[in-house]
Amino acid sequence: LKISLKSGERNKTSPLLHGLFFEDINHSGDGGIYAELIRNRAFQGSQDVTGGKKDLTGYRAIGKGVKIELDVTQPLSDALRTVMKVTVPANATGEVGFLNEGWWGIDVQPQTYNASLYIKPHGPTFNRSSTIAGLTFSLRSNLTDDIWVKKNVPFPENISTFRYTHLQTTLTPPKAAPNSNNTFAVTWNGKAAAGQIFYFNLISLFPPTYKNRPNGLRKDLAEVLEGIEPKFLRFPGGNNLEGISIDTRWQWKKNIGPLVDRPGRPGNWGYWNTDGLGYLEYLYWCEDMGIEPLLTVYAGYSLDATGINPANTVPPDELDFFIQEALDQLEYAMGDVNTTWGALRAKHGHPEPFSIKYVEIGNEDWFSDSYYWRYPRFLKALKEKYPDIMYISSQAVEENPTKKNVTIPPGNMWDLHHYQTPQFFKNNFNYFDNWQEVNNYPNVTIFVGEYSVLSRDREGGVDWANGEGRFAYPPMLAAVGEAIFALAMERNPHVVKLSSYAPLLQNWNAYQWTPNFVAFSANPKDLVRSTSYYQQALFSKYLGYETLKTVNVKGDFNPLWWHASISKDQKTVYVKVVNSEAKKQTLNLEFDQVIKAANATVMRNDDEYAFNFIGNSTIVPRPKTIPRKEIKGKKLKYEVEGWSINVVELKF
Ligand code: AHR
Repeated sequence: LKISLKSGERNKTSPLLHGLFFEDINHSGDGGIYAELIRNRAFQGSQDVTGGKKDLTGYRAIGKGVKIELDVTQPLSDALRTVMKVTVPANATGEVGFLNEGWWGIDVQPQTYNASLYIKPHGPTFNRSSTIAGLTFSLRSNLTDDIWVKKNVPFPENISTFRYTHLQTTLTPPKAAPNSNNTFAVTWNGKAAAGQIFYFNLISLFPPTYKNRPNGLRKDLAEVLEGIEPKFLRFPGGNNLEGISIDTRWQWKKNIGPLVDRPGRPGNWGYWNTDGLGYLEYLYWCEDMGIEPLLTVYAGYSLDATGINPANTVPPDELDFFIQEALDQLEYAMGDVNTTWGALRAKHGHPEPFSIKYVEIGNEDWFSDSYYWRYPRFLKALKEKYPDIMYISSQAVEENPTKKNVTIPPGNMWDLHHYQTPQFFKNNFNYFDNWQEVNNYPNVTIFVGEYSVLSRDREGGVDWANGEGRFAYPPMLAAVGEAIFALAMERNPHVVKLSSYAPLLQNWNAYQWTPNFVAFSANPKDLVRSTSYYQQALFSKYLGYETLKTVNVKGDFNPLWWHASISKDQKTVYVKVVNSEAKKQTLNLEFDQVIKAANATVMRNDDEYAFNFIGNSTIVPRPKTIPRKEIKGKKLKYEVEGWSINVVELKF
């Protein structure tokens, strides 16, 4: 392989190539990266989203005869109408109250937690003179009698019996609990409150968050995502943007502002979304991580609970309402404080406008047969107001030959999704080469918005119906397939500008999709970075600034796949090499300058089906020393081990 260092033979690599795609799936948001530790904090229900049934999932009563039940007669707000009624029996003694088990446990560390809730004593049963003076908040073991921390939270004087009171405090356990099987308990004196009734809602417990953002992100998960050096965040979906009906679509106007005003919604992945992680929180996520927001706006098409329902398309004469919603959404992020929505953002705490450079119109609209008229209407209206944004189409010509196609005008982008087999990615290594010319898409660029190796190679590709061959966790083979596709993207920087793996996060306790990038539970020790994660972390770290010209002197791609680039300071060359077979291969590299030094980082495994798992994440990139004798002047002989992903760093 000959590699030229001549400056005239280079292309700029795409600086934003690797990023994140997030939607609430697999409890990646509620019970995941959204740091709220209380499950079902506002009694919005859990699993029965289409039936709309509320439940007490996560809660248990404390004390003999104490009754906890749902109540709709004492709403906290218009948005949070179902509350928990706690009845203390007339003969109560000792400790009474309730506990919450968290999202399958609560991790207790010596750090400060913010705890809060809304309470209203029931007027007719409330006895001011004999009653309790406050509540006790505590973090305790779910297995033993251990209480890790507790604090009394007094009621304000003359606590109201017709309005809710917000009680807040901090809890700082002196030491870590030995495991994450812990609960958050709210208790009080049973004897003093005998025969009384109390209503509760929006029970909340936050650990310290990523960058200390109030109502923010779970720190360890956000930091793991930082580890791939992402450049952008696509949000809020995916299917979860679209809704299981038009009315239950992700609605930004309902997920901003105080939490008491956020009703949440039945998410597309079978569980209720609290929307605590709302539009502004996503923008903060981008700001705090220093990455570009890539916003998907609802484009008038929803899914249904079972699949695709064509009836869920907004009629043409009602589309303007949704276009206006998207325009307002952009104004909320980017308008100054003199605009209606910009002023609201300022009121919510962020007077400085955000900058949004990428907007995707809808998601996977090749499933619909109406994008051909919805897309141009959105594009025209949004472009008129925000001409500098790059607009991304979620359907392109080749995806659905049986349906009416859209035409993506030059200067715009297309979002391509591939959940595939390793063989597919090998077969499509040259997919992006001359893509614009072949498809007659002058100056249209590509965002590979969702991709991953979903199953092993099998006749007919991915078996969507039965899941035969589908991976539970990304094995080495998946990382190899994705690495090949990533090289295909990186070597075509004029075509592919952005890419993101999907799905991003998986809660070990409840998930709807496999394989995933990072898996976790309440216990930070259960956090697993997959082989796919490490592959991307490696390629993202060594992205390079310019692509170098490579010429195959002997042999073609397969089983070796490669790409060469140079760093911004022009001091280091990165040669990325993937071996998609078990047999060791030799790669002979020749440069037009003398090599001064070379070393490598390699991720590999003999067993292509091996994967990282809790307590056993051994498939990671490791440094590899290149023997000095392999470097001869301008030449380097590099041994590429079987099933390996390599980055060779060279100095000249
Ligand atoms: O990533 C899971 C789903 O795959 C996304 O929600 C959707 O866009 C795609 O079909």
